[in-house]
Amino acid sequence: MAKLQNAINLRPTFEDFNIKHYVETGTGGILDSYGQNSLLQVSQLQIPDLRMHSIEILDRIYNEAVDYFKDNDNVCMHLGASHDKLPETLEELDENPTLFFLDAHYPDSYRDEHNVEIIRDDPDYIKIPLEGELRIICQSRDVSKDIIVIDDIRIYQDGPYEHGNFENRAVHGGQNLNFVEELLDETHILVESHLQEGYLICFPVDTPEDTVRKYIVGA
Ligand SMILES: C[S@@+](CC[C@H](N)C(=O)[O-])C[C@H]1O[C@@H](n2cnc3c(N)ncnc32)[C@H](O)[C@@H]1O
Repeated sequence: MAKLQNAINLRPTFEDFNIKHYVETGTGGILDSYGQNSLLQVSQLQIPDLRMHSIEILDRIYNEAVDYFKDNDNVCMHLGASHDKLPETLEELDENPTLFFLDAHYPDSYRDEHNVEIIRDDPDYIKIPLEGELRIICQSRDVSKDIIVIDDIRIYQDGPYEHGNFENRAVHGGQNLNFVEELLDETHILVESHLQEGYLICFPVDTPEDTVRKYIVGA
């Protein structure tokens, strides 16, 4: 299962980089996650001054999360497409380091009897919103102290992923990840993980290279 805690070691990353904000696109189900939902796992770190924001396009998933976190004032849910909701979410951040987990794609996709993923015919800014999300983030803040974790990079490029390539990429996926290099090359070290569906983990460029392994699952 592609989850933040399968990409990075949560506690050392949040603590060592002094992360004060967590922003996630794509909440995903909480009750059906067997405790593995990323927002749930981040909230369970119980870091007192960590504010958590999650953006979700589907009412039922949003409502479930609102209900689940109703007693946790540090979790703030946002209902809508990530491109529409990121600007107001970003306004709530200050200059302190933020960890972004970009994991929104294919609302309401499901698998048929042959286990082939069936994807709704939404426009690309909803189906594969990553490039726009990253552009919105980089235009609105200095990201140089932020960590950015991108999930499911196999949507954008083939590779030796633990769970194989994405059979629907030609029809529903992206062409490449060149835009990540364009936007983050000067400010971040980019590390690919091929676990599960593939992650791209972007650390501030001044992170000592010999410490990066401490934060990456399986490194
Ligand atoms: C893979 S799941 C997220 C899993 C969750 N982040 C976790 O790690 O536990 C993807 C979620 O993104 C949502 N989503 C898809 N496209 C979206 C979009 N354009 N904007 C916001 N949410 C979106 C889906 O409805 C789904 O809940």
